[in-house]
Amino acid sequence: MAFSRALSALVLALPLLSVSALRTKRALCPDGVNSAVNQACCALFPVVADLTENLFDNECGDAAHGALRLVFHDAIGISPTLGGGGADGSIFTFSTTELTFHANIGIDDVLDQVGPFITKYADVLSPGDFIQLAGAVSLTQCPGAPRIPFVMGRPQPIAASPPGLVPEPFDNITSILQRFGEVGFSPAEVVAVVGGSHSVAGADDIVPNQQGVPFDQTPSLFDTQIFVDVLLRGTNFTDGQGAQQGESETAVAGTVRLQSDGLLARDPRTACTWQSFVNQQSQLSTAFGQGVTKLSLLGQTASKLVDCSEVIPKAIAFTGGAATLPPGQTLQDIQASCPTAAFPKLATQPGPATTVSPIPQATDS
Ligand code: HEM
Repeated sequence: MAFSRALSALVLALPLLSVSALRTKRALCPDGVNSAVNQACCALFPVVADLTENLFDNECGDAAHGALRLVFHDAIGISPTLGGGGADGSIFTFSTTELTFHANIGIDDVLDQVGPFITKYADVLSPGDFIQLAGAVSLTQCPGAPRIPFVMGRPQPIAASPPGLVPEPFDNITSILQRFGEVGFSPAEVVAVVGGSHSVAGADDIVPNQQGVPFDQTPSLFDTQIFVDVLLRGTNFTDGQGAQQGESETAVAGTVRLQSDGLLARDPRTACTWQSFVNQQSQLSTAFGQGVTKLSLLGQTASKLVDCSEVIPKAIAFTGGAATLPPGQTLQDIQASCPTAAFPKLATQPGPATTVSPIPQATDS
């Protein structure tokens, strides 16, 4: 109870961290190029530039997706009963333990990419800060994604997360909602963080023999297409038994649907929120931004952290179109699951059915 009361207080404090609420008196940084309201933040400008150029290659691709996933897998490692430090960087510092957790499949590849940057800037940022900074910067690579706050000062992690705290794609919705619930997330917040993040995501490891299999038709756009694609008739990814290489089990060829996403979209506790995001870009962006900010503070004392949101680059405005149905599909193909609201009308893409291309891997040249 005390834990969730503390979290509620923290969430009430979140608007104080709002990027738009920054004080405005900026002074030149020692580099003579950048300026900051808080001079303690000056050291982060070169880190952000390095990440943007050399980790993300200025795109919403595999490396940006991996950095966002890392935010979650580090932060969720906390429980009021089992302990753990939350967004503390333990997934990096205690990787020999945490990478043995089944739910962290593929995080080894992400750490292979992000880890050298964490080490390079170890005198500037703790691992916990670095992971959250990389996640916030990754979002600024993805058109439509929010610009979220970044606060600095997370202490070094002291231990590995206990096992079993990261939700898995074959967990049922009761257990997923319970897991998020014990760290203060409502079912609506779960839908926002899971659906929003999976709009810029794909599977590198869980589909046998395939990498970069997108979760929706537009994996390099933070948009609401995933909320349509996941509701189309078609099957969830099971264990690979149903899919041959190159085949899709979903209604959208080339994509894969996590069972947990498919169930969240249809469960009575979450279906109406899921549907409510269809073509509501700014509603999704705001709810997702608040949810990820909340994740970034799990296990941390917000009042002890320094607001360096000013180093986060501008968001890229959403220029994509409305969410649509794939060629040949109609609203009859949507498994609308919210009994209290009609499913929004959607246009069908013209032309013959297409296959969504895989997401190029960060290691591809
Ligand atoms: C019920 C909760 C969740 C489950 C079960 C889940 C599960 C998964 C799985 C199985 C993958 C594919 C892993 C692979 O094969 O490489 C994945 C990818 C991803 N997830 Fe989640 N996830 C959840 C919530 C979240 C949240 C809250 C975030 C971020 C805030 C997130 C961000 C991502 C991203 C960005 C990817 C793509 C990574 C890449 O393309 O390299 N996920 N998720």
